[in-house]
Amino acid sequence: MTILAKESERGVQSVPIEQLIDRMERWENYSIAELGPYLKSLEIDEAWIDAHMPDPMPTDAYHRNLIYQGRRFEVVLATWPIGGGTLVHDHGSLSSLGSVRVLRGDIFNQVYRLVDRDTVKPVHREVFHTNDIVPVDHGLIHAMGNACQSVIAMSLHVYFPWIIDVSYWDPETNKRIPTRL
Ligand SMILES: [Fe+2]
Repeated sequence: MTILAKESERGVQSVPIEQLIDRMERWENYSIAELGPYLKSLEIDEAWIDAHMPDPMPTDAYHRNLIYQGRRFEVVLATWPIGGGTLVHDHGSLSSLGSVRVLRGDIFNQVYRLVDRDTVKPVHREVFHTNDIVPVDHGLIHAMGNACQSVIAMSLHVYFPWIIDVSYWDPETNKRIPTRL
């Protein structure tokens, strides 16, 4: 597992992440109901989080670090600068499922729903705090971002299967952003 060499070079233990990957590789059937509590139970220490802060830190949007891509799932670390966030998006043509654990700070989850083929409408906004789990269910359309004005936030995302062919919507107009071919 390449992750091990990288982590030991930094002198930071990544045992919980190794356990997560190992367990996910062995699971027969993935479900949010099982993944969410397991992700929440992982003891990820502050030193690991500090060691994974991107340098340089993005000034807007967010930083995406693909930690691991298995045959049937992927693990992504997201770092959210102050004021940072995603566009409105879905989870791709495979309608991937998953769970997100907030590792540090507060993260908002703004949920949308389609009102016609190309237009979404905001329906629900919730703020999640450190160690909370955000479920990503079939068909979810949402935007996430840092909900705090003083703390850089970080979150660990596990998706199955991999996310491909994501659709985006403009948060100002709520209209679909055409994808370039
Ligand atoms: Fe998402």
